Amino acid sequence: KRHLISAADLTRDDAVLILDTAEEMARVADRPIKKLPALRGRTVVNLFFEDSTRTRISFEAAEKRLSADVINFAAKGSSVSKGESLKDTAQTLEAMGVDAVVIRHGASGAPYRLATSGWIDAAVVNAGDGTHQHPTQSLLDAFTLRRRLVGRDAGLGRDLAGRRVTIVGDILHSRVARSNVDLLHTLGAEVTLVAPPTLLPVGVGNWPCEVSYDLDAALPKSDAVMMLRVQRERMNAAFFPTEREYARRYGLDGDRMAKMPEHAIVMHPGPMVRGMEITAEVADSARCTAVEQVAGGVHTRMAVLYLLLGGNEPAVSHARTEET
Ligand code: CP
Repeated sequence: KRHLISAADLTRDDAVLILDTAEEMARVADRPIKKLPALRGRTVVNLFFEDSTRTRISFEAAEKRLSADVINFAAKGSSVSKGESLKDTAQTLEAMGVDAVVIRHGASGAPYRLATSGWIDAAVVNAGDGTHQHPTQSLLDAFTLRRRLVGRDAGLGRDLAGRRVTIVGDILHSRVARSNVDLLHTLGAEVTLVAPPTLLPVGVGNWPCEVSYDLDAALPKSDAVMMLRVQRERMNAAFFPTEREYARRYGLDGDRMAKMPEHAIVMHPGPMVRGMEITAEVADSARCTAVEQVAGGVHTRMAVLYLLLGGNEPAVSHARTEET
C-alpha cells in the first residue's frame, strides 16, 4: 500500500512525475467538462481534526474531479468531541470500506501512525500534521514555482535546479517550511530561511538550506519569496511578537518587494494575516501567487490521488480518452 506522509520520502523522479501528472490534470481543468473517470467506484475520506479552508476544499474538488465517492469528516461535531480515539475513528471508517484517507491532525506523526498501525487498509495522505509535514502543500508550491520560473510546457520532466527560494517567518511552527525545504532540496533549488532567532527550530543548522536573519539582504538574491503566517495558536502568548515590530523586520511591503528581481514572485500558502507578514498592497499585487497556488493545489492533489489509487495507465491517456 502506498502512502504520502512526508515530502522527504519523495525522490526527484517521484516529485517530477507528480508535477508532470498535475500538468495533465490542469489540461483537463481547462476543458468544459472537468471530470475524469479515474477513481470511479473508489471511496476517499477527508479526515480533518484541525481547521482548514484551502486543503480541505481542494482535496474534495480533486476527489470529485476524479469521480471518487467522497466522505467528509470534521472532528468538530463528531464523536471525537466525546473522547473517541484516532484508532476507533479509523476502524469505524475501515468498516465502511474506504480506499484512501486524507488526514489533517494537530499531532505530528498522526498520519504515519494511521498508515503503519494496521487499523486500516487504505492509502493515507498527509494533509498537514502538527508542525511536522504538509507534503501536498510543498508539491503545489513546486508546481507554481516550476510554471513561473521554468515554464508550463518547457518545465515538463524538469526540476528546479538552481532556482533560489527564500522562506520567511515562523519556521519553528511551520510544516509548510519543513516540507518545502525537503522537496525543494530534492528538486535542486537553493533555499534560504529568514526568521527571528526565536522562530527558528533547534537543529535548523542541519537542514539542507541557508539560514539568515536579514530579509533585506536575501530579497535581491531570490527568484521566489514565500511568506509564512506567525502561528499564534501554537505559541505561548508571552512569546508572540508585536505586530508592528514583526512587520517592520520580517514583513513584506511594497518597498521591500521592489528589492526583489523583476521576475521574482511572492508566494503564500495561506491563510494570510494582512498587515503582519504581508501588506495588502503585496498580497493583491500581480506578483503574489497565493490564489494561483490554490488553483495548482487542485491539480496537484488530483495527481497525488491518481498516482496512489488509480494510476495503472498514464493520466494523459485518461485525459485524451475523455476528449475524444
Ligand atoms: N495552506 C493551507 O494548508 O491552508 P489551510 O489551512 O486553509 O488548509
